[in-house]
Amino acid sequence: MEGNYRIILTEEQIQKRVKELGEQITIDYKDNPPVIICMLKGAIYFFSDLTRNIKLPLEFDFARLSSYKNGTTGGEMELISNITTEIKDRDILIVEDIVDSGKTLSYFVKLLKEKKPKSIKICTFFDKKDRREADIEADYIGFTLPCGFIIGYGLDYAEKYREFPFLAEIIDPSK
Ligand code: IMP
Ligand code: MG
Repeated sequence: MEGNYRIILTEEQIQKRVKELGEQITIDYKDNPPVIICMLKGAIYFFSDLTRNIKLPLEFDFARLSSYKNGTTGGEMELISNITTEIKDRDILIVEDIVDSGKTLSYFVKLLKEKKPKSIKICTFFDKKDRREADIEADYIGFTLPCGFIIGYGLDYAEKYREFPFLAEIIDPSK
């Protein structure tokens, strides 16, 4: 893998954008601070940086979903760990690493809606808009760039490379 990736966003570029998103969310939610949900594992750094840039009293929760993808087609969805916060009549902000087909998020949003929250919004670090299959859009988007498979800043390739502070694109996925 050494050398099999190119950096597409530096740590500085990421931090600048995350700060902007935090400022926007601070304004939008100033009267109703949200329950903010981190989608594990990929959103861990984004969530951690973003929440420190939202100047509001927040309530944190965490959820973990896994989709078993056979090749490029989305497979079964499994809720590995759910939130425990009572969210009825609350404003919810979901923080995700990347929206690709959108299947993971639309599945999770459907589950949350059963708990009757007041509102649900989505903040994603990265949006692969042109690969969308499910009818779902993020309300806050860090970056949308043409790219292949990306790693770093929490994102993995077979559970590796999450710890990179930058975002990189894999050059040859077969390696
Ligand atoms: P979706 O259900 O197709 O939207 O898949 C979203 C999930 O797939 C994300 O939360 C990521 O975990 C994973 N994913 C999709 N594209 C990438 C990528 O380029 N790099 C790393 N993970 C990805
Ligand atoms: Mg993920």
